[in-house]
Amino acid sequence: MLLPTSSVGRKLVMAATGQLIILFVILHVLGNATIYFGLLNAYAAHLHALPPLIWSFRIGLIILFSFHIYYGIVLTLENNRAKPQSYVMRNDLSATVAGRNMVWTGAVIGSFIIYHLLHFTVQITNPGLAAARHLDSLGRPDVFTMVVKSFQNFGIASVYLLSMIALWLHLSHGIQSSFQTWGLNSEQSFPIVKRLSALAAIVLFVAYVAVPVVIATGILK
Ligand code: HEM
Repeated sequence: MLLPTSSVGRKLVMAATGQLIILFVILHVLGNATIYFGLLNAYAAHLHALPPLIWSFRIGLIILFSFHIYYGIVLTLENNRAKPQSYVMRNDLSATVAGRNMVWTGAVIGSFIIYHLLHFTVQITNPGLAAARHLDSLGRPDVFTMVVKSFQNFGIASVYLLSMIALWLHLSHGIQSSFQTWGLNSEQSFPIVKRLSALAAIVLFVAYVAVPVVIATGILK
């Protein structure tokens, strides 16, 4: 396999895997929105109806996350080793709170994903709520009730809220940085890329937290 040997190559892998993961993040939040229309169980049933498809998708995601995490750690270590130089060359972008803490917000998101998979996919953190064991009136796993009862728990809703703050910070730097890696860094284009990236990160944050927030506040029952 062709693995990057230079720091530029590693940055390109980070940008490509990051942007593909963002595509998944967008698709997932659109899927979550089915909850507002009473369609979450139907959506989940459709997703699981074709095991080869969902498993190909999962394997693709595992490969993307593995490369993204591995090269994220390698690049952070390289940057730390080159600190005196990178300090001098530091521009206002890498000096933002989000930019300086990518590895930490990434670690929070990674831990969140492990918890999230155990919670909603493997369904072992709250076995009493497991959708696999509770079917709705149409005989489908009751994902809706599992999600609603979960977020009625203040502790669980808070874990999701805090994790989505980490996602927001990570994306607010990550999106613009990935476009910069592809060369969109001229004086004309970069301010636009920067603004659009910040906007996209906020929109995704609001769309993700909306589900736990409307449930925890009792708007959606
Ligand atoms: C408030 C935020 C979120 C909610 C309410 C939510 C909801 C869900 C639900 C209900 C499932 C299970 C679907 C099913 O199997 O029927 C799921 C699976 C999953 N979620 Fe989320 N999610 C959230 C945030 C995220 C984030 C931020 C990520 C990643 C960046 C993520 C990644 C995944 C993955 C990888 C799966 C497993 C898909 C599979 O079964 O292969 N989720 N989510």
